[in-house]
Amino acid sequence: MTLHQSLAEAIVDGRAYADGDRIDEVFRCIRKEAPLDVAQPEGYDPFWAVSRHADIKEIERQPDLFHNADRAVVVQTTSNAAKIRQMTGGEANMVRSVVSVDGKEHKDLRGILFPHLTPRSVRPMEEQVRKIASEFVDQMLGFGDECDFAKQVAFLYPLRVLMAFMGVPPQDEPMMLKLTQEIFSGNDPELNRSGKQQTPEEALQATLASIAEMENYFLDVTTRLRETPDSGLNSLIANAKIDGDYLTRRQLLGYYITAATAGHDTTSNATAGIMWALAERPYLFEQIKQDRTLIPALVDEGVRWVTPVKHFMRSATADCELAGQKITKGDWLMLCYSSANRDELVFDDPFDFRLDRKDNPQLAFGYGVHVCLGQHLARLEMRVLMEQLFDRLASVELSGTPARTISNFVCGPKRVPIRYKTN
Ligand code: HEM
Repeated sequence: MTLHQSLAEAIVDGRAYADGDRIDEVFRCIRKEAPLDVAQPEGYDPFWAVSRHADIKEIERQPDLFHNADRAVVVQTTSNAAKIRQMTGGEANMVRSVVSVDGKEHKDLRGILFPHLTPRSVRPMEEQVRKIASEFVDQMLGFGDECDFAKQVAFLYPLRVLMAFMGVPPQDEPMMLKLTQEIFSGNDPELNRSGKQQTPEEALQATLASIAEMENYFLDVTTRLRETPDSGLNSLIANAKIDGDYLTRRQLLGYYITAATAGHDTTSNATAGIMWALAERPYLFEQIKQDRTLIPALVDEGVRWVTPVKHFMRSATADCELAGQKITKGDWLMLCYSSANRDELVFDDPFDFRLDRKDNPQLAFGYGVHVCLGQHLARLEMRVLMEQLFDRLASVELSGTPARTISNFVCGPKRVPIRYKTN
């Protein structure tokens, strides 16, 4: 069996994700009719669309059986996948990062930042994060009583926090934001490099150009930080050694690029989505105004609601069985996180935004050995910003029509126009 063609086409179509209702309906059908089945959109190699929460966890629980490195970890057309292999001398992924390797290499790379991003390690960062959050809230209130919360707050605040911890100076932030948006949003003419609708081939070329710019930037950073190390995350990456050697050029650049892109865009999307949800639901705003202890639940539900990372891919290293289906060695599987986070078997009223989900089991940060390294920092950032906003705002509502980015990978709201009253 294969998945109905219209469903298969939708799960790789950034426009379906931009229209939130459409992708929700597509995955609702998939979970009901064919929760684990092969999709073959035109121009793509076939892959299993893994739509259920339990099946995604089952895969992520077995990293030796389901690899990240052997095939592209982000879905690619067949011709782009071949081009990437050609360019990289046979590797499946454009960048060799912690998220695109397995086994010992993954453990070694993850070990470089892991100790610095545990809950205990991020706790002392709270004061600095709070200071940054309050600057952004001051700035927002300085705009008057309206702003585009996505563009003017959510995209800038996690960027400032991450860059501060990485050790990137504020004057380089606009360039980092632009390159990140180009890398993640090649299908969105408002955010990509050409300003036009691009074919997958054009999108790949544009992404490679943006990656090359980031690489040049970080090569200079490495030289400087090896001469004069500092306390930032970039310095840890530049000076890290595995078995006595510095990281290879591809490992180094892959690490910086993953941290410098995924480390803020994801959090920005979730933050923008939380404000969108609040602006549409005055009763939630009131409830939290009365009880600030609900803010962590707001953050987790916001992360579930937006699910900023729509998928990652895996490939099977051996024949096996999953949810009654026979998976063959070499098969490619798409972990559809946004579907897992609306799975009716796990969430009551999955299409409702609720603060009373007990230990919200959302999978937006992934699961298993690759689970998001930055999740504790991301939660801290969002909690602290929301605390400040609830201190200062008396009410909030939408002042226009929000919009989401056209993308099938890392994305979320790109416009959230709001009107607000202060206390
Ligand atoms: C709301 C915010 C965020 C979301 C939704 C998110 C989501 C994810 C997801 C889905 C994965 C893959 C997990 C898997 O394969 O099981 C991941 C991995 C990763 N994330 Fe995040 N992320 C967020 C914030 C951050 C931040 C703030 C940082 C950096 C400080 C970061 C750094 C990373 C890294 C380095 C990995 C690769 C980990 C590995 O492969 O071992 N993320 N993230």
